Order: sequence, then structure tokens, then C-alpha cells
Amino acid sequence: MATRKLVLSRERIQSRVIELGQRITADYSGKNLVMIGVLNGAFIFLADLVRAVTTAHEIDFIKVASYGDSASSSGTIRLVKDVEIDVAGKDILLVEDIVDSGRTLAWLADNFASKQAASVRVCALIDKRERRETEVGIDYTGFVLEQGFLVGYGLDYAQQYRHLPEIFTLIF
Ligand code: IMP
Ligand code: MG
Repeated sequence: MATRKLVLSRERIQSRVIELGQRITADYSGKNLVMIGVLNGAFIFLADLVRAVTTAHEIDFIKVASYGDSASSSGTIRLVKDVEIDVAGKDILLVEDIVDSGRTLAWLADNFASKQAASVRVCALIDKRERRETEVGIDYTGFVLEQGFLVGYGLDYAQQYRHLPEIFTLIF
């Protein structure tokens, strides 16, 4: 059994999510905002973030697979579920739980580049720098963390721990 150590409390997460929501609201008022959650990890972050955004917007989801049930990347990315709304002419905001190697985000950016969106930006709750392989631009960042395997607030290890309201680092 892995032990866990608290990294981000509920209060820190909630106040940062409110700040991000306020910035997104200011930047996107009058635009055709579509917030796209990257499943599965972003489901809790997206749910809180959209309630902190007070400008009208659409919500959709995309699911890609990169990690199996382990803590290291398999290296390949596969589209599991595409968005359902037509993104042409829309202002897309991809909402990610965590950016690690950057491969998922690079793949998503490529994927949206060909869809004639008016703009594509990224919001990530956690920017984890330790294993970055691909330079990726993150427009809205919740927290920058150097290392660790994180769980809670949507983040999993083998599909567990997603329900925890705080974020922990797992010690194997
Ligand atoms: P990347 O393609 O290496 O940037 O990985 C991104 C995806 O890997 C995230 O959307 C997460 O689903 C998963 N991931 C990366 N690091 C962690 C972590 O510390 N905890 C849980 N999931 C992670
Ligand atoms: Mg995951």
C-alpha cells in the first residue's frame, strides 16, 4: 500500500479555481467560449471551474489514453472519445488536470489545429515540470509543482483516489 502526503488543501485548490474562473470570465466575455474537459482526470476540476466562470459558454469532453494503470507514460496517445460539438469558429479552452511529459497536450493542440477553431488555449490545474519532454504552452495554470506522483481532486493512480477533495503525493 502506498502512503500519501498532503500537497494542496481544499482551501488552496478552491481559492485558486475561483481566481482562474475570474480570469477566464474576463478574457472570454463576448466570445464563443467552449470549455473542453480532458477525461477522466479533469472531471472534478472542470466541474468547479465552470461554476467560477460567469460568462456564457458551452461544455464538452474529449478522452485520450496515454497512461495504463501505472504511474509512467506508455508514450502513445490514442483518441478514445472525441468532442461532439462543432468547434469551427469557437474559442476553445482545453481543461487538463495535470501536464506531465506534455505529450497529451501536444497531441491535443495538433488535433485542434486542423478544426478551424477561432482560438485554442489551455488551462491546467497542475503544471508538473519534472518529466517534461515537449515544450507546451499553458495559458492558465493553477499550480506549478516540480515533482511527485499526485492523486486526488480527479487525479488517479490505477483509477483510485479521484474522489479525494485534496491533492496528495503518493509515496510508493
Ligand atoms: P502527459 O502526456 O505526460 O503530459 O500526461 C498527462 C496525463 O497523464 C494527465 O492528464 C494525467 O491523466 C496523467 N498524469 C500525469 N502525471 C500524473 C500524476 O502525477 N498523477 C496522476 N495522473 C498523472
Ligand atoms: Mg490519469
